[in-house]
Amino acid sequence: MTSQGWIFFIVGWTTIIGLSVYLFARVMLAKRQKVLMEPAEGGRAQWASRIGLILAMAGNAIGLGNFLRFPVKAAANGGGAFMIPYFCALVFLGIPLMWVEWTIGRYGGAHHHGTSPGMFSLLWKNRGSKYLGALGIALPFVIVVYYNFIESWTLGFAWFSATGKYFGNTNQNAMNEFLRGFQGAEANQFFSSIIPILIFLGITLLINYFFLSRGISKGIEVLAKFGMPVLFVFAIVLVIRVLTMGTPDPALPDQNIMNGLAFIWNPDFSRLANAEVWLVAAGQIFFTLSLGQGIICTYASYLREKNDITLNGITTSATNEFAEVILGGTIAIPLAVAFFGLAGTQEIAKQGAFNLGFVSLPVIFQKIPFGQLFGAMWFLLLFIAGITSSVAMTSPAIAFLEDEFHWKRSKAVNTVFAVLASATVLVVVFFKFGFLDELDYWAGTFGIVVFAAIEIILFSWVFGLKRGWHEMHKGADLTVPRFFKFVIKYITPVYMLVMLGVWTYQEAVPKFIMKNVDTVNRPYLWGARGLILALILLTLWMVRIAWKSKKEKSA
Ligand code: ALA
Repeated sequence: MTSQGWIFFIVGWTTIIGLSVYLFARVMLAKRQKVLMEPAEGGRAQWASRIGLILAMAGNAIGLGNFLRFPVKAAANGGGAFMIPYFCALVFLGIPLMWVEWTIGRYGGAHHHGTSPGMFSLLWKNRGSKYLGALGIALPFVIVVYYNFIESWTLGFAWFSATGKYFGNTNQNAMNEFLRGFQGAEANQFFSSIIPILIFLGITLLINYFFLSRGISKGIEVLAKFGMPVLFVFAIVLVIRVLTMGTPDPALPDQNIMNGLAFIWNPDFSRLANAEVWLVAAGQIFFTLSLGQGIICTYASYLREKNDITLNGITTSATNEFAEVILGGTIAIPLAVAFFGLAGTQEIAKQGAFNLGFVSLPVIFQKIPFGQLFGAMWFLLLFIAGITSSVAMTSPAIAFLEDEFHWKRSKAVNTVFAVLASATVLVVVFFKFGFLDELDYWAGTFGIVVFAAIEIILFSWVFGLKRGWHEMHKGADLTVPRFFKFVIKYITPVYMLVMLGVWTYQEAVPKFIMKNVDTVNRPYLWGARGLILALILLTLWMVRIAWKSKKEKSA
């Protein structure tokens, strides 16, 4: 590691760990722990405890993005070159938007709206605002359609690690074949049908269903209270194992853990002129903090006005960054560098989001003592990270049916799961044609930035920051530094608009016309776009019905 790298490493680690511990301690020591126990207005559900709320929000944010997506994006975009735009995006986009989404959410909840159609209509008294809000239900729904599928791979691989099923396939090609067979992308010597993946997918959906049908405090909160500590313990054990790995092959002294860490922390200022690195870094911040998906808003809608959102919001962000940069950044990349070298790791990262986690790491687990145990821990950790996020992504659709149609939770959950399971089957069947990646691009990468841009503009410019700031500080345990007033009003919206403009021009247009896509895959990718469009139209139509019936009732 260079001396600059050491400085970044030490400053990065101490700031993130220090802030997380400090903020968490402040939350725990704050007087207002029990305000949440007050009866909810309008019969809406509520969180049972402040720690439960924080863990659920952190669980919402901490997901596959922290442990799989982050290392891959960082490695594919030059390691240290990626971290500078990443931290800029965190401070100027992520943290401000986190406070904004908590504020919009709590404000909506106080008016009996748990989702963005209702919330946007409060921010902007215009007939069209509720339709813009439809994206805050459709986008997370599209994301969870493929997210659950990936979650089921993690469950499958936890089982295969524990039972040693893939052991013996000690090179990346064989593991890749194993993965593709399991995903249903090809029938091969390892898997002759898609039945195994359907079984794990079924179990994954059932577990999601179980916690969601139990509701907010008895379902989601309980899951987070048990799941998050286990996740942190597993991650810390894995980090310690990685940090004590040293140089696995003395004949290859350059391949060691230290060089893996150096790859992330040695800053590389030469690539800062490259717009793409800035876009990818910002995209990662949105994805990892669960922003621009309406889901933080829905979770925050189960708060009361007396409940703090400023301290809670920043604590959620800090906890997520601890899980992402400290834990997520210290497992997959350093391990891969130690076993496959720097060039090898960058090559793996360029092969897509999953090879690092599902191909390279299993190869490594086969080379270390107690590999089955560490493999099982890694994939169970991913599964817990995944499920605490997927229940969040499914929540807006359920909350919408409960709040706007006054459906019972069981009816809402059953209906949402019927649509969810049907759409997920499409992802499984068409996976090999790039169906999942297409959904991820338009909903999980591009869509969330569009939605976040709408949110910040409505909040800062239409609703007005003066009102917004006042709303944010009701019941606050922390006064947000005034500097952020300026950031929220000008920097975040402008940053987002510039980013969207450059992104659309550089990436979205070539992507839209399928410039580099195999002609065989094109119809399926159009199918994926059709699915997104259908889900958006369905949501728009339901928003229309809900508001029409409200109008009739009030007439
Ligand atoms: N924030 C969630 C993740 O990182 C979606 O996976």
